[in-house]
Amino acid sequence: MPPSLPPNYPLHAGYPSVPTYLHLRSTSGLNPQEPRASNRGPEGYYSWYGCYITHACDRSAPGNINAIHEEDEENIADVAVLPTHQRKGLGDAIVKHLLQRIEDEVPVTVSGDSVCTYVTLMADEPGRKLYLRNGFVESAPKSVGIMMVRLVG
Ligand SMILES: CC(C)(COP(=O)(O)OP(=O)(O)OC[C@H]1O[C@@H](n2cnc3c(N)ncnc32)[C@H](O)[C@@H]1OP(=O)(O)O)[C@@H](O)C(=O)NCCC(=O)NCCS
Repeated sequence: MPPSLPPNYPLHAGYPSVPTYLHLRSTSGLNPQEPRASNRGPEGYYSWYGCYITHACDRSAPGNINAIHEEDEENIADVAVLPTHQRKGLGDAIVKHLLQRIEDEVPVTVSGDSVCTYVTLMADEPGRKLYLRNGFVESAPKSVGIMMVRLVG
């Protein structure tokens, strides 16, 4: 069943404009990105699917998410909802929509006796309940995310 959204919040396949995307990231508390890094579009582009939500009375996009294919896994990124539109089910709707799209589009992997699709994400604290509610489990202690920020220049 498609995820239900409140009235006046249509969901669109694709990506919001770069200024809208940057505004959404910074306003929702995600780390800021250079416009270059948010080049959403068919050219020079890493995400294979994205979707965003608009609001009938508000030209900015209140919600956004996208999926990145990396070798044998799908990575979910850019999960953000503007604070003034949070706690209305938009986050839940975009996560459910993207998971359905992955189920519909991504070839399954056979691993031992399992036939599966491997979906990963780095869960910031505000999103954890949302992901756990949608079937994700914490990978720790077996696996933990390890990262490095390399300052260049
Ligand atoms: C994480 C985030 C995307 C969630 O978006 P959201 O639209 O508020 O998510 P939802 O509305 O689906 O769910 C949030 C809560 O509102 C509740 N809710 C949903 N509809 C509701 C309604 N109509 N009335 C009251 N509460 C409602 C949900 O049950 C949920 O409650 P819980 O936190 O106690 O489980 C948003 O908080 C955000 O953008 N945070 C900042 C950026 C960030 O950290 N993103 C995650 C990166 S990993």
